[in-house]
Amino acid sequence: MLYQHNPMFNLILFGPPGSGKGTQSENIIAAYGLQHLSTGNLLRSEIAGQTTLGMEAKRMMDQGQLVPDEVVIGMVDNFMNAHPGAKGFLFDGFPRTEAQSVALDALLQQKNTEIGVVLALEVSQDELVKRLLNRGLTSGRSDDTNEAIISNRIAEYQNKTTVVANYYRQFNKVVAIKGEGTVNDIFSALATEIDSRLAK
Ligand code: AP5
Ligand code: MG
Repeated sequence: MLYQHNPMFNLILFGPPGSGKGTQSENIIAAYGLQHLSTGNLLRSEIAGQTTLGMEAKRMMDQGQLVPDEVVIGMVDNFMNAHPGAKGFLFDGFPRTEAQSVALDALLQQKNTEIGVVLALEVSQDELVKRLLNRGLTSGRSDDTNEAIISNRIAEYQNKTTVVANYYRQFNKVVAIKGEGTVNDIFSALATEIDSRLAK
């Protein structure tokens, strides 16, 4: 049987809580037609639907803690299978642990595809806290309103999620992007990296 190259382009938008992943995802999906996959958004819709999964996840999310790997990986698998015609996926807030990274690679391999690039937004801790507290005034997100919970989210990122960048660095897939400045300037920097890979 002839090997057929799968032309999907998948990217991970990586960065700490408040670094602009959701904001820039909207710009990227509008420009490139990728399928947005935010595990935070999927979990919040489970909570809104008052599912068992949602109720269990809510306890951890309200404390600023990561939800167990199996729960998140199962959700991602279901979402990808529900979007078989996607040109590619933009992963936002996933993977967040090394186990999630390994599981994602396996899911993509089953579809004869892989991660094209990991774009890592870099933002100072002071700016992250400022942005999240500010968003908490209007977002209705219970994890945005309390500075101690925001600190927990940032600590979870430092303790469990920074290893994800190390994991992809061994495959030379990580590009750091300055995540402070205007939304448009940051989008231009992201688009330059995406364009250079799509042109190959
Ligand atoms: P998730 O929903 O992924 O939240 P997060 O990673 O904490 O990040 P945010 O969504 O708060 O920030 P963002 O980087 O998207 O920034 P945004 O664009 O919104 O996860 C929530 C929880 O779900 C986790 O704590 C965990 O419990 C659970 N979870 C989710 N995924 C999981 C996983 N894979 N495994 C286990 N658990 C998981 O911007 C933030 C604010 O800044 C906005 O107000 C925005 O307007 C503003 N802003 C954006 N860009 C700029 C700019 N350039 N200048 C000034 N302000 C800006
Ligand atoms: Mg987000």
